Amino acid sequence: MSRRVVITGLGLITPLGVGVKHSWSRLLAGESGITSTLTRPDKAYESVPTKVAGFVRDGPGGVEQGEWNTSEWVSKSEERRMGRYSHFALSVAEQALRDAEFVADTEALKRRTGVCFGTGIGNLDDTYDSALSFDKVGYKKVSPLMVPRLLQNMASGYISMKYGFKGPIHSVTTACTTGLHSIGDASRFIKFGDADVMVAGGAEACISPFSLSGFARAKSVSTEFNDNPAAASRPFDSARNGFVMGEGAGAVVLEELQHALDRGAKIYGEIVGYGLSGDAHHITAPPPRGDGILLSMTSAVRQAGIRPADIDYVNAHATSTPQGDAAENAAIRRLMLEGEDDETPAEWNGFKKLDPQEINISSTKGAIGHLLGAAGAVETIFSVLAMKDGVLPPTINLDNIDPNPDFTCNYVPNKAQKKDVAYALSNSSGFGGTNATLCLSRDVSM
Ligand SMILES: *[C@@H]1O[C@H](CO)[C@@H](O)[C@H](O)[C@H]1NC(C)=O
Ligand SMILES: *[C@@H]1O[C@H](CO)[C@@H](O)[C@H](O)[C@H]1NC(C)=O
Ligand SMILES: *[C@@H]1O[C@H](CO)[C@@H](O)[C@H](O)[C@H]1NC(C)=O
Ligand SMILES: *[C@@H]1O[C@H](CO)[C@@H](O)[C@H](O)[C@H]1NC(C)=O
Repeated sequence: MSRRVVITGLGLITPLGVGVKHSWSRLLAGESGITSTLTRPDKAYESVPTKVAGFVRDGPGGVEQGEWNTSEWVSKSEERRMGRYSHFALSVAEQALRDAEFVADTEALKRRTGVCFGTGIGNLDDTYDSALSFDKVGYKKVSPLMVPRLLQNMASGYISMKYGFKGPIHSVTTACTTGLHSIGDASRFIKFGDADVMVAGGAEACISPFSLSGFARAKSVSTEFNDNPAAASRPFDSARNGFVMGEGAGAVVLEELQHALDRGAKIYGEIVGYGLSGDAHHITAPPPRGDGILLSMTSAVRQAGIRPADIDYVNAHATSTPQGDAAENAAIRRLMLEGEDDETPAEWNGFKKLDPQEINISSTKGAIGHLLGAAGAVETIFSVLAMKDGVLPPTINLDNIDPNPDFTCNYVPNKAQKKDVAYALSNSSGFGGTNATLCLSRDVSM
């Protein structure tokens, strides 16, 4: 019989807080984690047209208070050797392993446990500082730690070394689909038999005047709400005008079903479908009707053996850009409503169609901004929590829904909604035209 994959542990760091508890409760309360960059010490932020970002709150309180205190998670020497995104990665891995109550305490278990952890951009600041030092002073100023600090697979390596995991140690970097691909690929390693347990996720911590300049030059980021940062990220709203960059991380513990049952683990749900696709269209813009994301959603739902109408909740990638949100919305409608779309698999012809109002979509990016390589992991965790608690997290700042007649679904504006969620989809996409979807099931049939 084919191997099945369940989720048994969660770890989160977002601009709303450190730890699952703080992030989730503030998200459901409709709060925003977006602040002004002008409150930061670095004066170079003043020259960048976007002045809003989602920083993780640094503070002494630690996870108890939802604050980030580096020394709570890594030693002094690790702090020096690693970039901030690796610190975040170690923290969410530890949170998720603790939550799963999983300890690989035998050599056999260590060999059957792996890590699949990525970042979209990685430690850009270090590269920047090293280049400046090299330019000014030359060879002697280049740190021997420069290379390990900037490699994008280093977080996976550090997690495996800390816990002695000797299964597959893999790293995906697919821009803003990284976190979702990490979890999806890790689930395949378990399905295929390469491992019984995987720690999977994504981390990103690259907010700086330099990186924001790059996204501002590409005209991807919000510039119209600099005076009201909390309102800047507004997926599906008519006044949206670009994404807001955030930082953070998410990790899950994935486990082969029987392995989880044998040790009596708490099971959050099952990964029942994973779809991947490419737009083959443009480096940053999606095709207007969302062909790429439609294909990834369709394959995730087919693999799950269910029909689109069975999906209770879609956590949208929707980053608050005019084009991206519209394309994804179009794709979701094509999946859920039209049924006889050219792309619809034959077995779905004539399936029950939903009324648009019945399609429940939200984008949690309204509250936390776009966490780039961490987004898919963080949003998968939000989808898991929606199933666990029977509540749809809101799309905040959704005051006036885009007037385009296509926007008639339920986008969960501003207030969380109680709703039993048995199946959820989580979508991600990224520069380069990469799309992926996970289909999650709350109930694990025996
Ligand atoms: C972080 O926590 C440690 C104890 O875990 C504490 O000693 C330290 O003061 C805290 N750091 C900051 C920056 O407050
Ligand atoms: C979406 O949520 C509404 C309100 O809770 C509910 O009536 C509807 O059935 C949901 N749609 C699906 C497909 O579950
Ligand atoms: C993900 O994409 C699929 C296919 O386009 C769509 O049906 C679904 O609504 C999307 N999910 C979200 C949360 O946007
Ligand atoms: C598919 O991925 C591309 C990556 O550039 C993204 O821009 C696009 O929005 C995705 N498609 C949809 C419909 O979201």
